[in-house]
Amino acid sequence: YYTGGAAAEKCARLFAERLKETADWTLPVEAAVKAESADGILFRLAELPPDADQLDRESYQLTIEPNLVCVTAGDEAGLFYGLQTLLQLLPPRLAYGSFDGPRFDDNWEHRDLSRSLYSVPPALPETVALPKLTIDDRPRYPWRGSMADVARHYMPMEYLYQLIDLMAAHKLNTLQLHLVDDQAWRLEIKAFPQLVKEGSSGSYSGAPGGFYSQQELRELVAYAAERHITIVPEIDLPGHSTAVTRVMHLNCNPSSGVYCIGNPETFPFLEKVFDEVLEIFPSRYVHIGGDECPKDAWLNCPKCQALMKQENLASGEALQSYVTRHMNDYLQSKGRTLIGWDEILEGGLPPKAVVMSWRSQDGGVEAAKLGHYTVMSPTGYVYLDYRQSGNEPFGGALLPMSKTYQFQPTPPELTPEQQHYVLGGQGNLWAENLPTPAHAAYMLAPRIAAVAEAVWSPAEVRDWPDFARRMLTQLERYSAMKFPARQPRVFFEAAEEGVRLRSELPGASIRYTLNDEEPGWTSLQARDGQLIPWQDGKTLQARLTGNHGALFPVSSKKLYRPQIHFETNMTQPYGMDHGPEAAWDYDEATYFWSGEPQQDGQYLTAVLHTPKKLDNIRVATGDHGRDILHQGVLEVSADGRTFTKAADFVDGEAAANRIDQPVKAIRIRVTAPDEHWLIIKEIETTEAAK
Ligand code: ACM
Repeated sequence: YYTGGAAAEKCARLFAERLKETADWTLPVEAAVKAESADGILFRLAELPPDADQLDRESYQLTIEPNLVCVTAGDEAGLFYGLQTLLQLLPPRLAYGSFDGPRFDDNWEHRDLSRSLYSVPPALPETVALPKLTIDDRPRYPWRGSMADVARHYMPMEYLYQLIDLMAAHKLNTLQLHLVDDQAWRLEIKAFPQLVKEGSSGSYSGAPGGFYSQQELRELVAYAAERHITIVPEIDLPGHSTAVTRVMHLNCNPSSGVYCIGNPETFPFLEKVFDEVLEIFPSRYVHIGGDECPKDAWLNCPKCQALMKQENLASGEALQSYVTRHMNDYLQSKGRTLIGWDEILEGGLPPKAVVMSWRSQDGGVEAAKLGHYTVMSPTGYVYLDYRQSGNEPFGGALLPMSKTYQFQPTPPELTPEQQHYVLGGQGNLWAENLPTPAHAAYMLAPRIAAVAEAVWSPAEVRDWPDFARRMLTQLERYSAMKFPARQPRVFFEAAEEGVRLRSELPGASIRYTLNDEEPGWTSLQARDGQLIPWQDGKTLQARLTGNHGALFPVSSKKLYRPQIHFETNMTQPYGMDHGPEAAWDYDEATYFWSGEPQQDGQYLTAVLHTPKKLDNIRVATGDHGRDILHQGVLEVSADGRTFTKAADFVDGEAAANRIDQPVKAIRIRVTAPDEHWLIIKEIETTEAAK
């Protein structure tokens, strides 16, 4: 039933259509003559107070009583979110569809990592019992975002539609589309057809190129709007612009990928482009990028130098700020608001510009203190292209879901007035390493659920163990949506007496084997933290189990009692697969990772159970230049008590040759404080010939 207006009828129909599609159930949709007398499911549009803001419009109440399920809201957005919650209360098979395998599994070499197996796939229920409850729900922030980078690799429209469905189910309301970058220009501009003709073939890995027609994007914008999602286009400038400046000859010199600002054709070109962008995307906010712009071409360009002199601009940063100001004036004249990455703060922020803080949350703090709105999307919490575990097949630095879940968009150092300028947060998915939709889906989900909770729920109800428990059902929902989310694993933590099983989702049950058989429902069962004693030569296989017979991917490890143990005074939030033993496991891809800034006197010591004569010791720290040891020493000990220096760390590495005493212990010691954490990638040794 519906009552109160067309929006209520629309949501009632959406609900009925969903159950028709997933289960072939036919629910009649009728106007309720009197709300109270309805007996069934009622969508009720209520009065909104005249001063209602966006958060009021997105709020809803859901009550479930013996004969009536009722969603009440003052706006279609709130009803839509109430509908999403109602779907979450249904069995996933009924709410989201069948379980016939992920939709994007073509060309997906890591298919097994995103596939959960059901011993018996969940059946369609004949009836559903709902709990009696009342939910009063309201989002914490108005900007609840997800960014898709479709420039580095083209993503087919089908993926973008599925992404919007996924976002809607998470009550996310903003999709930032990163449409252009150095590799490619993906959006049709009628005034400059050569842009997509010549500029859309590129990608990072040589995957096929592609572009979006204006008609395709208009249809996507409309589809998103129906689901209360605004698409914010990003046209990155003045850097990340190799594709466009090469095609249009708008760079300072042929090898620069940055717009020439001294060229009198640059701003007229950009305005013609944005005239079309604004026609396609009605969003209030328009993203102009602004990140990572190299300034050297400008400083060596006669045209840019002349402009800087004329405009009294003393630095490259001041010239970029000039560009931002120009685009800000243009967008404001069209009734829009400029948003850019936090580099737009450098050289001065134009009036009303919004800062998207990515390098950390500091840019957002600075913006809020200046009275500018900001969206938080810091690398350390919500860069979803970062690896989810130490042995991820691709991705950058480590960002496990437990860390994403700690994301707090509003930093505590802001005063209540300044906090008001934090519009919300956003998970970003850069696509350098994501050539297909299946890769992208694997990185996006399930961490996007942690982002969604950070931007919707009040800080005080956030609870990682509770989220981890609910995640088991959320993973079922992804399977039902046929969205190939990454599935959770068991990690192995070496201990003196054996290997400890660690569940990535605290509380999830573990099945394991030691007999080379794949673990299943009849295998041995273990709890999180259980110790499996060393059994030399045997292979330990373990997997997490979920609801309704779900079996998650298998982790395996050959068991050998180690010949070394480790001692350290560094703390490690990522102890699971970044424990000390990862620093000496003959695998450069795994590493020890501390979880605090480096301090003078911190150490990691490897103790050899039998002293050995060694020719060489080499230690590498840092990963892709991150968290390296700048000031430290490599020390050795013959007795495990007194140490002598064998080498200094230079550029994150230390090497010692021809050590003249048998080595009982090797110590890596920090000798000066450093704000970064410490990664020790690998300790390599060469034994002396006998
Ligand atoms: C960015 O990650 N370059 C905004």
